[in-house]
Amino acid sequence: MKLGATFITFEGIDGSGKSTQARMLASKLLADGYDVVLTREPGGSPGAEEIRSLVLEGDPDRWSAETEILLFTAARRDHLERTILPALAQGKVVICDRFADSTRMYQGLSRGDLRGIVDQLHSLMIGREPDLTLLIDMDPTIGLTRAKARQTSEERFEDFGQAMQEQMRKGFLLLADEFADRFRVVDGGRTPEVVAEDVTRLTLEKLA
Ligand code: ADP
Ligand code: TYD
Repeated sequence: MKLGATFITFEGIDGSGKSTQARMLASKLLADGYDVVLTREPGGSPGAEEIRSLVLEGDPDRWSAETEILLFTAARRDHLERTILPALAQGKVVICDRFADSTRMYQGLSRGDLRGIVDQLHSLMIGREPDLTLLIDMDPTIGLTRAKARQTSEERFEDFGQAMQEQMRKGFLLLADEFADRFRVVDGGRTPEVVAEDVTRLTLEKLA
């Protein structure tokens, strides 16, 4: 087994292909001899998966904006303690579908400007950024159509609609500038295989 101890996250709007790319990258790295943990947020540990149903299902007005930030951060703390940090300590490559940048965008932008609170809570309770963040960028019209075709009960944020998805796309691109050292932007509007070629190249550059 090759040792990697690298924390890689995928970010982007709903339906951009993050889960697909995370899976493909995990298979590729496994085949290359890396020990890989593929995980996701919200979730990724038993406790955090329980919080996932609390935040993604039910009435959209179920939580205040502030409570929602606390719930996503609580889920992340559990995921970090129980899954991510132990795996990195064992030299594994951790691939995570969404992480704190999603909270910066969704909770930080969608119900007023709460980015300051998100960042304060992050430094207090999480204090860890990924080594590499792959932003799968794409046209929200296509992303939303793809996401809607999935038909799950986890629709709270997808129901934000077109304008919000457009705002999220712009927000993610600004975030990529803000954290330019760890972000790489990948054009998600191509076939999964072609997107995966870029994802693999950028990851191997980081692991080298
Ligand atoms: P996300 O995790 O970003 O929401 P998914 O990987 O779940 O996105 O993809 C959403 C849907 O779009 C899935 O049905 C998936 O099979 C499909 N899909 C993923 N990547 C592509 C692509 N590059 N081109 C066309 N369809 C895609
Ligand atoms: P996910 O399962 O990745 O959805 P998708 O595959 O559609 O991209 O995430 C579920 C939803 O949770 C998604 O709409 C974004 C939202 N979310 C937040 O609002 N804040 C967060 O911190 C995270 C991790 C996700």
